[in-house]
Amino acid sequence: MDRLWINARLATMAGDGLGVIDDGAIACRDGRIAYAGPSAAAPQTADEIIDCGGRWITPGLIDCHTHLVHAGNRAGEWAQRLEGVSYEEIARAGGGILSTMRATRAATEAELVAIALPRLDALLAEGVTTIEVKSGYGLTVEHELKMLRAARALGVTRDVRVATTLLGAHAVPHDYAGRADAYVDLVCNEMIPAAIGLADAVDAFCEGIGFSPQQTARVLAAARAAGLPVKLHAEQLSALHGASLAASHGALSADHLEHADEQDVRAMAAAGTVAVLLPGAYYFMRETQLPPIDLFRAHHVPIAIATDCNPGTSPTTSLLLMLNMAATLFRLTVTEALRGVTVNAAAALGLADTIGTLEPGKACDLALWDISDPAELVYRIGFNPLYARVKDGRCC
Ligand code: NIG
Ligand code: FE
Repeated sequence: MDRLWINARLATMAGDGLGVIDDGAIACRDGRIAYAGPSAAAPQTADEIIDCGGRWITPGLIDCHTHLVHAGNRAGEWAQRLEGVSYEEIARAGGGILSTMRATRAATEAELVAIALPRLDALLAEGVTTIEVKSGYGLTVEHELKMLRAARALGVTRDVRVATTLLGAHAVPHDYAGRADAYVDLVCNEMIPAAIGLADAVDAFCEGIGFSPQQTARVLAAARAAGLPVKLHAEQLSALHGASLAASHGALSADHLEHADEQDVRAMAAAGTVAVLLPGAYYFMRETQLPPIDLFRAHHVPIAIATDCNPGTSPTTSLLLMLNMAATLFRLTVTEALRGVTVNAAAALGLADTIGTLEPGKACDLALWDISDPAELVYRIGFNPLYARVKDGRCC
C-alpha cells in the first residue's frame, strides 16, 4: 500500500445512507482506494501511515454545477435588483448573462484562469476534489473554446478534477438578436463539433429568456449525435417541461427544477436523470417556488446539490453553505444533503464509477473533517471544519 489512514470514522456513502463505519481505515494504492472499511480487516502496512485521531472522512466533495470561469461581476446589477428591477428585465435590456459575456470575451484564457483561481481555492478549502465548469459567457466558437480551455487549465494549476460542459446555448448574443434559430445553428453545427475533446458534456438554458424547448431539443440532439452526454438548466423560472425533454435525451442531470412537475419527475426517474438542486440561486433570486422534493423522493430520483457559482444568480463559492441551504430552504435531510455533494453529484457528471463514495476501485479523493458528527457539515453556517483534503491519494 502507498498510504493508509487509520483511526478514522468513515461516511463511505456506499449503499443508501451515509455508510457509517465508526472505527475505520482507508488504504490507497496507485491513487485508488484499495480498502475502505473496519480497522479490524484493514491492511496493516503501507509506505505512509496517517493517524486521523478519530476524525471523520467523507469522499472528497463534488460541485457538479458551476459557472466558475467568467470575468467581471454583476454587483451593480444586483444593486439595481434591490431597487426593484427584475433579473428578466435586466437580461432583456442587454445586461445579465450578456454583460458577463462582454467581460469574458475581453479576457484572455490566462486571465480567465487567474480570475477563477480564488473562487476555485475557496471551494478546495472546503474539501472539494471535483468541480464541473461550464462555458456559456463566450457565445462564439472562439470564446466558448477559450472558456473550456481555461476550465481545463484549472485542473492542471490545482489538484482538482475538472469536468467541462459546453453551454453555448446560454443566451442569444447581440449579433444574433431576433435570430435565435440561426444562433442555435451555430451551436449545433460549429460549436459542438469544435468542442469535442474539450467538453465532457453539453448543457443549455431552456427558458423564456433563454432557448425554447424546440431550440433546446436541437442542441441536445446535436450533442448526442456528437457522442456527448447532456445536462439542462430546466424549470428555473418557468415550467416548459425542459426536464422531460432532457430526460428524453438521456440527460445526466436536469438542474434548478423549481417549476418541475410530476410528468417531469417521472421522465427523469425513467431516464436515470439526476435532479441537481441549486439552493444558492433559489436564495439569491428570492424564489418562492420550491423544487418538488417529495416527488423526487417518491420516484427515487437521485438529488444532487451544487453551488451554481455564477455572477448573476448565485455568487457563492461555498458548497458547505449550500448544504445548509438545501436543508433549511428545501428541507433535505442530512443524509440527502451529504449524498447530494458526493455520490449523487458524481452521477450527475457521469462519474459514478470513478468518484463519489469510499469504495475499493474509486479514486482516493477524501475530505477529513474536524467534526464529531456528519450532521455538523450541514448544520453550521459560514464555518469550515476541513482538516485535510486528499486527491488521488495525495494530501493537498
Ligand atoms: O444557472 N440560468 C442560467 N444560468 C445561470 C445564471 C447565469 C447568469 O445570470 O450569469 C444559472 O442560474
Ligand atoms: Fe447554472
